[in-house]
Amino acid sequence: MAAYLVEDTKKVTTGTLREMKRQQRKIAMLTSYDYTTAKIVDAAGIDIILVGDSAANVMAGCSTTLPITLDQIIYHAQSVVRGVKRAFVVCDMPFGSYQISAEDAVRNAVRIMKETGSDGVKLEGGVEILEAVKRIVNAGIPVMGHLGLTPQSINQFGTYGVRAKEEAEAAKLLSDARALEAAGCFALVVEKIPATLTQQVVAAVRIPVIGIGGGAADGQVLVVDDMLGKNADFKPKFLRRYADLHNIMLDAIGQYVCDVKTGDFPNASEQY
Ligand code: KIV
Repeated sequence: MAAYLVEDTKKVTTGTLREMKRQQRKIAMLTSYDYTTAKIVDAAGIDIILVGDSAANVMAGCSTTLPITLDQIIYHAQSVVRGVKRAFVVCDMPFGSYQISAEDAVRNAVRIMKETGSDGVKLEGGVEILEAVKRIVNAGIPVMGHLGLTPQSINQFGTYGVRAKEEAEAAKLLSDARALEAAGCFALVVEKIPATLTQQVVAAVRIPVIGIGGGAADGQVLVVDDMLGKNADFKPKFLRRYADLHNIMLDAIGQYVCDVKTGDFPNASEQY
């Protein structure tokens, strides 16, 4: 079995994560959407599990993250939380659940916390969502920010390409990061931005910065199905594949089909 590092068995809190940044210990984060996967991810020593709105892509086959509803993400988060003992569980706030008004945002964040048992929520955007972030933080709910490529804005961006390559967008991202820290965010995700900009964000804020496609940061996040190689067609440059589940599953299921059709399964020891 591959070596893995479980730092300790104590529940991870925002305090643990702050301390990890201070001590320059890297934070490992992955998504999960279901009980069985979350249980394995947690047992392997992951510090943060994100119930990402990428569930819309990975679980439901949607082409963007926009369609997932509050009820649907709550169902995924409830399933994940049941499987987790140690990791800090963050639930994404779906598109439309925090952009309408700060009051609506805090109501929906409270609903997520009450109904799922998650440890915090994640919202995409900078100064545009600052009021919502402040209200949610004031309600006692840990908030993770998300800057750079924010997939809920794909219709504005037009592509999933690298963000903030131009000076003006990079400067806005840096000032958004500072504003989100000042508003009380406990951590930030930066997605698909130049590695040099990620370094500037890491240096500019005291809260942990978690990268995806942004080079070295205080920690890294990947979509669990992508790093396990479940989707053979998805191969962005930033993705490291740790398994080839697509072929493992294809072979295993193909063998099962064969065994059923030849009458090999079930055999005498597999029946009552
Ligand atoms: O929904 C998601 O999976 C995410 C990660 C890519 C950070 O937001």
